[in-house]
This record gives sequence, C-alpha cells and structure tokens, in this order.
Amino acid sequence: MKIRYLTLALASTLAFSLPAFADTVEVLHWWTSGGEAKSAAELKKMVEAKGHTWKDFAVAGGGGDNAMTVLKTRVVSGNPPLAAQVKGPAIQEWAAEGVLANLDDIAKTQKWDTLLPPVVANVMKYQGHYVAVPVNVHRVNWMWVNPEVLKKSGVKEAPKTWAEFDAIATKIEKAGFIAVAHGGQPWQDNTVFESVALGVGGPEYYDKAFVKLDPAAISSPTTLKAFDTLRMVRKHMDKDMSGRDWNLATAMIINGKAAMQFMGDWAKGEFTAAGKVPGKDYLCLAAPGTAKSFTFNIDSFIVFKQKNQDSKATNDFASAVLSDSFQEVFNQNKGSIPVRLGHDMSKFDACAQKSAADFVATNKSGGLVPSFAHQMAQPSAAQGAIQDVVSSFMNSDMSSKDAVAKLLEASKKR
Ligand code: GAL
Repeated sequence: MKIRYLTLALASTLAFSLPAFADTVEVLHWWTSGGEAKSAAELKKMVEAKGHTWKDFAVAGGGGDNAMTVLKTRVVSGNPPLAAQVKGPAIQEWAAEGVLANLDDIAKTQKWDTLLPPVVANVMKYQGHYVAVPVNVHRVNWMWVNPEVLKKSGVKEAPKTWAEFDAIATKIEKAGFIAVAHGGQPWQDNTVFESVALGVGGPEYYDKAFVKLDPAAISSPTTLKAFDTLRMVRKHMDKDMSGRDWNLATAMIINGKAAMQFMGDWAKGEFTAAGKVPGKDYLCLAAPGTAKSFTFNIDSFIVFKQKNQDSKATNDFASAVLSDSFQEVFNQNKGSIPVRLGHDMSKFDACAQKSAADFVATNKSGGLVPSFAHQMAQPSAAQGAIQDVVSSFMNSDMSSKDAVAKLLEASKKR
C-alpha cells in the first residue's frame, strides 16, 4: 500500500481529532521475539525514568510488514501513536505527508550531526530537517552457524562461496540435519535473496540493481545467476518452513536441528537470550561471498505531530534513544551495534565488535550498502513488489528468466 494516497484522509483527520498525549508515550514497534522484547523493555524503562507513561503498541510480525499496515490505519483514523518504528525511504514518504514532528531542536542540543555517521543522518532527515531518530545499526548479510552440527556432519568449515555451499549443505543433509533453517515468509525470502544477490554480484552490482534500480543491471545475467543460486539454496530448506517465524528458525540452530540460517543480527538477540556464546555455541559469519560487504539496516523512530504537541515527551523520547547508556544496553540485547560514532565496544561480544569494525571498513571501501529487504533502499511500493516476486519464486517453479522479467516490472512501481 502506498503512503501517498493517504494525504487527503490525513489532512482532514489530523487537524481535528488527535488526542493530546501530554505524558503518554505510545510507541509502535514489532519487537516481540524473546531478544526483541528484552530490547523494547529497555526503551520502556528509559522513557518511564523520564516520568512518562509507556503505552506499548507492539504489532507481531518480523520485518514489520504487519506493523506498517496497522500504522497506516491508525493514522488515517486520526489517532497516530507518538512514535513509530519506520525505516529508510519510508521516513521521507511519511514526512512528505506533513504529519511528522520536526526534531531539529533536540538534534541540535544533542549534536546529532556530529554524533551520527553521515550515511545514517541523511536517512533521518527530510529536506534538511531531522524527522526521525535512529536506534541502532543491524547488519543483515550474516550466516548463523551451529559448529557442532557441522562437526557431526564431517564438515570442516562453513561455506565461503555459493559454489561451495551446495556440496556442504548436501553433506549436512546426508548426516540427518536440516542444512538451512528458514521461515517461509515474504520478508525472510527477500532477506535470503538479498544476501545471495550480494554474494553473487558484489556491492557495485547490488547498488546498481537494488538501490538505483537500474534496468540494465536488473536485467543482467548476474540477476539470472542470483535467482539460480537462490533456487539452489531453496533446495536445502526443510518442508515445514512455510509461515515459520524467523526466531523459530533461529531456535533450530540453537537446538542443533539445523546448520545455517541467513538472517540479520537480531538473530543474535535470540542466541544471547538463550545464554549462548559466539565462537563456541554458534558462529556469526558473513554469508558466502559477502565478507567484504555490509548490508545495513537502521531501526529508527518517526514521531508524529500531535495536537497540543507536548514537545517534552517528544524530546525526552528522542534523547533517550540516543543516550549512551541506552545505546549500550539496548544494542547488547538486540544484536545490533550502537548508532553513535565512537561508542566503546569493549563490553560487546565478538560478533558485535566485528560488525562495528566492518561497518567502518566497508564505509571506506564502498562495500557498505543499504538492505533492501529491510526497507532501507527502495521506495516502499517497489520494495513490496520486489518482495512479492522473490517470494513467488521461492514458492513456485518460476524460472529464473521469468523472475528477472518480473523483478524489472516490480522495480518500476511507485
Ligand atoms: C527488522 C528490524 C529488526 C528486527 C527484524 C525482525 O526489519 O529492523 O529490528 O526486529 O526486523 O523482526
């Protein structure tokens, strides 16, 4: 659903019917898995410590598709929450509707321009003004591995290329394990496709095809190869994957049923909540072919204009999110890394330390690219259409050639 057509409805409802939430901070988010809920609880604690009442507006459904649908309904009915978890280009789309609060004052007080990496700050601004506050940096192109399962399967090392992947996955299956833990939901399908495309084509191709949506790059043989590779990976997923939530797929790695999962590092929140230690109980490795790249996914909150706007609640919320203490505890639970530049990483685990180092290195090398599966790269209409194509490909016998043609059409949606 496009945001733009909501304009009229918004204009007529916002003016009259917004209740004043002087000290009630209602926050829409989709953090409902074990690790996610622990992280959200830290945000609640922080808001309450500033004297506000937290009103939880959690909409289950990984990746946030359900949450976005519910958000649109709430806004159209003239009753938006104070803040909502919204990311990437959708921030600009909401801002263009004129419904967001301007966060420049608090941004100036807290020096966001020097606190945040420019690549992050740019996403948070609309026409030069801050309209969103970032929480973290997630890396999406991870492969989570159970080393014990590899060992029991006689596999010495996890695959580093997609060419190695097929043979290794087959070996794991012969030993009686599931090679790839996956949840058959469109956003999870797209998450796997994204890492496959990056591994097959590299960051330059990825940028052209999936960020710039360049028709020539999309129609290139590289995209064909990406779909062929996705088909190969699909073959190594189990028959019960349909509809499975991502955290249940992570649990299959945790309890030794499956060997590998392609998922962003919110999966690490599940390992952490289960008391598992990286390097020992599980491995965090870059997806095959993507070691020198980093697909970033930045969780952020937009704040809606309220009638009788209480800027104290807005400012308290935004400043809490970017405070040092919140960044430390939230990100350790969430699996992400702090979004503040120069944050001391000494108390973080090895995966987070690697992520922080790679974020800086790829920012210099050109390997840092936005995650399209997590709404960081494409207009929301194109993103939804592309996700649909990938998901139909995963759930049918569509040829790679047809998938490329459909992808090209989908990329033109606005
Ligand atoms: C992502 C989001 C993460 C994580 C994940 C699964 O889109 O950025 O914070 O929660 O979905 O729900």
